[in-house]
Amino acid sequence: MKAEACTYVIFGATGNLSRIKLMPALYQLDDGNLLPEGTKILAVGRRDWDQQQWQAEVRDMLQAKARNGLDESVFKRFSQRLYFQKGDLKDPQSFTALAETLNDASRFPQNKAFYLAVSPADFGGTVERLSTDGLLEEDIGWSRVIIEKPFGYDLLSAQALQKRIGHYLREDQIYRIDHYLGKGTVQNLLVFRFANTMLEPLWNRNYIDHIQITHSEELGIGSRAHYYDTSGAMRDMLQSHLMQLMTLVTMEPPASMDAESLRDEKVKVLKSVRPIPKEAVNAYAFRAQYSGGNIKGERVNGYLQEADVPLNSVTETYAALKLYIDNWRWKNVPIYMRTGKRMSKSQSVISICFRRPPLHFFRDTHISCNSPNWLLLGIQPEECIRMEMTVKEPGLEMSTRITSLDASYRQEDELHTDAYEDLLLDVIQGDRSLFLRWDEVEYAWRIVDPILQRWSEDRDYIATYPAGSWGPEESRRLFDKEHQHWRHSLTPECS
Ligand code: BG6
Repeated sequence: MKAEACTYVIFGATGNLSRIKLMPALYQLDDGNLLPEGTKILAVGRRDWDQQQWQAEVRDMLQAKARNGLDESVFKRFSQRLYFQKGDLKDPQSFTALAETLNDASRFPQNKAFYLAVSPADFGGTVERLSTDGLLEEDIGWSRVIIEKPFGYDLLSAQALQKRIGHYLREDQIYRIDHYLGKGTVQNLLVFRFANTMLEPLWNRNYIDHIQITHSEELGIGSRAHYYDTSGAMRDMLQSHLMQLMTLVTMEPPASMDAESLRDEKVKVLKSVRPIPKEAVNAYAFRAQYSGGNIKGERVNGYLQEADVPLNSVTETYAALKLYIDNWRWKNVPIYMRTGKRMSKSQSVISICFRRPPLHFFRDTHISCNSPNWLLLGIQPEECIRMEMTVKEPGLEMSTRITSLDASYRQEDELHTDAYEDLLLDVIQGDRSLFLRWDEVEYAWRIVDPILQRWSEDRDYIATYPAGSWGPEESRRLFDKEHQHWRHSLTPECS
């Protein structure tokens, strides 16, 4: 797709996201000659920096993050794109000054992408001020706004935010980012499903017993208590990233891969999710908090001992959820999702468990391994697709083992790109397929809202799990059937 030069304006450019993701991603795009000629990057921050100081800062960021080390010739070109403008999001004058800078067409391309890498509380106000100073108008070039998650805190606040920014922006100017959609393995899921016919006949309630989506992290909340304690795992990961994975696994084939067709199908899934009644939340959702434990042999604190966490906090660092999609394809197939901080291992995996054969064929033999077929989609760190089959073990005895057919996404020596590279480029190219449309966000909030309400009322108790474990055993109560269990590993397990 051919793109025109633009000015990327980054609000919150000195913050963490910009340091570890945005600047490195823009640099990598430049390295790959993917930034249109003339593209400029204007950082807006509160510091009193000039262009040179900012260039030096960015050099430091890249030295730590550039994929193959910093390439001086690429950096020379990249640094010429970099500008810094002092500005305060709360100060209308700053926006007037920004408009003056940006309106100088001899220095800055008139296509503008505004990346709001700022606190969610500032999303609405920033859009409003950009509009007041005429920066969202599209008389000369396009104007697009990229909004980080979380989009709202619950259904009502998301609706209020949408209403507010909807006064100033058309839907096609808004790029709501969910960086999971930029991951190569997540996009591979679409290719795997829709470029191969082999699995499609099996991709339904007749053959699939249940689906699991797991995102676990060894890390705790680090220094993010102020954000995390008001968010919790359900908002931070489940309502957004995991829900997106769920729609991609379960949606119908879209009419085409254009943004609207793709998102129409995702929304249909979200609309078909069986509502969870507030009084039945405990049957569908489970929450817990990590207590002290060991990660890789080192003692780590529990959540309540982390810096800035209130002593009586009942914020969940682990959330598990069961959903049903009431449509022809998925009726009564449970979808189990879980996520947690300070768990045994960092990984994101989609595990699809097929039904067992209708007859227990080998009942009277020594065959001990009677495992169902699993299809495992490793999102990270292992990027793979594995299908497990039971086969006979060589030898005279009738015994079996599980073997796994491997369709790895990427070999060690193949290029690894970061999700943000893909998404930042899509913005320049005007491709919204991998960004969330408002109705997707709204329906995702509708699904989890009763749970969030119930949890915010039940403030007396929260289950705990030791840091370094796979989460609380009690979360098993979500399973519909005795044989269902959390699948932790990508290597064959026998049941
Ligand atoms: C972010 C969450 O959106 O995603 C973090 O706020 C989480 O809490 C992160 O750690 C996980 O992303 P990734 O790409 O590291 O799996």
